[in-house]
Amino acid sequence: IERTLSIIKPDATARNLTGKINAKFEEAGLRIVAQKRILLTVGQAGTFYAVHKERPFFGELTEFMASGPVVVQVLEGEGAIMKNREVMGATNPADAAPGTIRAEFAQSVGENSVHGSDSPEAAAEEIAYFFSGLELVG
Ligand code: GTP
Ligand code: MG
Repeated sequence: IERTLSIIKPDATARNLTGKINAKFEEAGLRIVAQKRILLTVGQAGTFYAVHKERPFFGELTEFMASGPVVVQVLEGEGAIMKNREVMGATNPADAAPGTIRAEFAQSVGENSVHGSDSPEAAAEEIAYFFSGLELVG
């Protein structure tokens, strides 16, 4: 059974959307096996998003991710990585399929409400960044 790292981003926590977003995950058959609400520093957000450090939006992205609380969580299920990305929808909400989290809740390509790991390697690394094994309760 697969696990993926999900983040409910500051634009979504600010609008009290944690429960509605979690309902989308659970309706899709994803189980929330770990979850916590934290406030990242810009430095911690930069370490998390290090793969994007050469991108022009890196500063905007890391400042946004540190601008308010995030909910970091581990989702478990068959094909959880791809399933989560389907439920999230396209990065740009203008391109996101109807019914997806980003279609319903995201405000822009930057303030797009959720993050999800994009590969098994990324999922393992991202889960380990935020959680110890003891915190994962399947
Ligand atoms: P994640 O699950 O968050 O990784 O989304 P993604 O895989 O759909 O997008 P990608 O990895 O390409 O980009 C990572 C994040 O950077 C996005 O989710 C956005 O929050 C942000 N981002 C991407 N493009 C832009 C942009 O043009 N401007 C800004 N401000 N942020 C962007
Ligand atoms: Mg990505």
